[in-house]
Parts: sequence; C-alpha cells; structure tokens
Amino acid sequence: MGSPIPPQVPAAGPDGGSGVRGVPSMPGMTGLGVFTVNPSDPDPAAAPGLAEFYHQHGFVVLRGLLPAALVDSIEDECAAAQRAVLAGTVPQRHGSTQYLDARHVDRPNGPGESGPGYVNYVEHVEELSPAVRTAATDPVLLEVLRRLLGNDVWALDGSGSGVVYQDARPGRESGYTRIGWHSDWQAMPSLDVWPGAAFTIHVDATSPANGFLRVVPGSHRWATPAPYRNINNVAVPADARPTGGYGNAEPPCSMPLGFEKVPGEIAVYAERGDVLLHDAYLWHSAARATADDTTRRHVRSGYYAGDRASYREQFIKNAAR
Ligand SMILES: [Fe+2]
Repeated sequence: MGSPIPPQVPAAGPDGGSGVRGVPSMPGMTGLGVFTVNPSDPDPAAAPGLAEFYHQHGFVVLRGLLPAALVDSIEDECAAAQRAVLAGTVPQRHGSTQYLDARHVDRPNGPGESGPGYVNYVEHVEELSPAVRTAATDPVLLEVLRRLLGNDVWALDGSGSGVVYQDARPGRESGYTRIGWHSDWQAMPSLDVWPGAAFTIHVDATSPANGFLRVVPGSHRWATPAPYRNINNVAVPADARPTGGYGNAEPPCSMPLGFEKVPGEIAVYAERGDVLLHDAYLWHSAARATADDTTRRHVRSGYYAGDRASYREQFIKNAAR
C-alpha cells in the first residue's frame, strides 16, 4: 500500500500570494523588489516605495518600462550582432574575450570543439543595435537612476565595454555559464567613478532552468574590501580604495571566492523586458542553468554618479567563472 496522498495546500487568497491552487501563498515574497513603471504616468519614475527599497536592499526590478516591441527589436538586433561577431563582419572591438572563462579565451570554440562556437558577449552593442541604444538611454530609466544615485548620473559611452549583450549558456563548450560572488566596483577599485548602478535588460525570463541572479540584500551598505583575495590571483593595485560601500560596517562574513551560499542571499527572477537595477556595491553572483539547451540573454551596462574625470581603463577580473 502506498503512502496517503498529502492534503492539498489551500489556494492563495487575494493577499499577494501565488494565486495558483496548490501553491502556498507567500505574501510579499512573490515579486519582491518588482516595481511597475508606466511610462504614460505623469511621473513614472516615482513608483511608490521604489527608492526606499533600493536604498535598503540594493536592487529593484522595473517592470513595464520598455514596450514589448522594443524588446523584440533588442532580441533581433542583438542576435544579428552576435552572428556578425561570429562571422567577423564587424570590428573586433565588439567581440569580447576579457569576460570569458580562461579556458575559452584562446579557444573560443571551447576545448576540443570544432563547431561554429559561441559568442557569449557582444561589447558596444549599442553601436550595432538602435533598439539597445533607445532602451539604455530611456528617459524614465535615467530619471529613476537620478533619483537613486544623484542628479549627475553619466555613462561611459564609447569607453569601457559600452553596453554588453550577454548570452549565457550552460554547456561545457560555452565560455560563459555563471559568475561567482563580486561587487561591480571591485573591477575598478582605483577609480572615483563610484557610486554607480548596473542595469540589466532581460531578453529571456530567468528561472532555475536557465540560471538566475543571486544577491545579498543590504550588502551595498557594508564596507566591502577591494578584491585582495580572489580566485584568479589577480593583483589589486596599490591605489585601490581599501573598501567600497555606503556604510562603515565590516561585512558579517567574507565574500566567498566562488559560488558558496551567503547567509541572507536571495534569488532575483526576472521576466522578459524587465529592467533590473542593482547597486555597484551590492554582492551578487549568477547561478548556472540546470537545464541543457537553455539561454539566458540580456543586455547590461552601468551608470555612474562619481567623478567622471577619474575614469581610466581598469578591469580587475576577480570573480570566479
Ligand atoms: Fe556584476
């Protein structure tokens, strides 16, 4: 005789729960940090609670900001840019190897691979995709960023990597599947361009199946050390700021070198078209997909609110891949 059938969990009520019969209701957890932004509102950047949530937790998800047709164009134009990089029909500056897993840097097809290979990244994709340029400079996005970071937000434009199209795939032949714990400021710890925030425009919705963002809410308020300890044994320059963050408190634990669980971390899932903003001081990582044959495609870049004149090329590759 088999075990008895467990009792059905009651359906969620009208309390912000899942609303799906048999799925437990978790009021306040579904859609944590998600703010609906309607560009036709008189002041669309003033979504109630958005700034408070960002300052407390270090991230927000803007939903409804970008029209579906624009997201469709981003997908099409980025796929074309990716094919052009693979075909070598656009300048080499668009094809990145600097972010790749080391074993793929010199062998973009992957060890033992002779196929067409993957192009996991297209740098300066805003120069190849008008839709990306439109979305990355969206006036409401910029207004939200001004209210979060201060009035003088700016982007690197032609410098750095520009806007990056990122196509994460789980296979061993893929050069980018996941990334370990880091804060974005740790990649340029000598610069006074901070504070800043990264934006990510999601082409694919995220899930455990195709990978997702892990964050430690509130970690942007800790004084996180520059990446003196890092898994790639990259040297931190002597002129690096010793710590980065909005507060002086030492982190309650040290930032893991790889993918270990951090107490208090949560998963942040996005829908297609969502624009995720996270602070440059926030601890984050990305989990690899659990299903094969999936993609996790997005477009990302950042805005800064510090000293623009202090910018110079720097990239400390401290995070595990
Ligand atoms: Fe990052």
